[in-house]
Amino acid sequence: MNRLLPTLLGLCVGLTVFGFAGPDPVRAQLPDEFTNLKVFPEDIAPRNLIGAMRSFSQGLGVRCTHCHVGEEGQPFSEYDFASDDKPAKRKARFMLEMSMQLNDEILPGLSQVADRREPGVRVQCVTCHRGVAVPRQIEEVITQTISDAGTAAGIAKYRELREEYYGQGAYNFGEQALIRTTEALGEDYDSALAVLALALEYFPESVQAWVGSAQAHQAKGDIDAARAALLEAQELAPDSPQIARMLERLGTP
Ligand code: HEC
Ligand code: HEC
Repeated sequence: MNRLLPTLLGLCVGLTVFGFAGPDPVRAQLPDEFTNLKVFPEDIAPRNLIGAMRSFSQGLGVRCTHCHVGEEGQPFSEYDFASDDKPAKRKARFMLEMSMQLNDEILPGLSQVADRREPGVRVQCVTCHRGVAVPRQIEEVITQTISDAGTAAGIAKYRELREEYYGQGAYNFGEQALIRTTEALGEDYDSALAVLALALEYFPESVQAWVGSAQAHQAKGDIDAARAALLEAQELAPDSPQIARMLERLGTP
């Protein structure tokens, strides 16, 4: 188990912000002995365990109750932290072992290929999770929501996530991510057009979104709408030979 300690402490590195200088109100409410640790050493110092738990919570953007049996608002002394009832806790334990393997077994091999960064970059929960519980990219979230619940639900989902996470690095809210989403939608041109309209709402100068809209309209056989979209693109990029060629190919109305 001792082999693991450097990694475990590594997981806590980001936690020095909390200082632990004075009494910690969270620690005071927690048991001093842990009865169901399978990855961390049984005799881990409570402050290190709590540090790791905080980095789990922050890495995933969740509260302790995401993984532990307990009611929000109750004192921690009422929680059953040892219980493995919640699937999220069991998955987190697997993830912890996976992260340790990456850091301790796989990444050291990088130096056989070329010198590693000094100090080495450690994989933490937040490296993949970026503050969200399920580490999917925004493109995947939108396309999946569209296929499960329809175009409007996909668009609403984007707005909702943007509202909640903008500026936190959790998702890519840039123009390109929306363009890539339309590519992933394949022949669902109506959904693609809705996503491109969304892109134009946030990025009104997006030439790519207008050109994409033109292509989707054309694929649907709506040549007038395709031409109108290309003219918008041309207004933004008057010197583009590609747009001129596309317009030429559509013919005059
Ligand atoms: C993402 C899931 C996750 C979150 C969030 C989380 N934990 Fe944990 N917690 C675990 C896992 C997994 C273990 C078991 C680790 C092991 O087996 O070595 C654990 C173990 C514990 C234990 C030891 C229980 C025992 O007796 O064995 C305590 C205490 C604890 N967590 C407190 C907290 C607190 C307090 C928070 C919120 C600040 C928190 N945890 C947030 C996953 C989580
Ligand atoms: C190398 C990337 C990576 C790292 C590092 C990582 N995770 Fe994950 N995590 C994933 C992926 C991918 C999934 C989704 C797995 C699936 O397909 O269900 C996931 C899923 C989870 C889930 C289940 C989410 C759900 O609701 O289905 C939990 C809980 C979790 N991770 C906790 C953690 C914790 C805690 C850490 C740090 C100890 C961590 N992860 C580190 C990639 C990672």
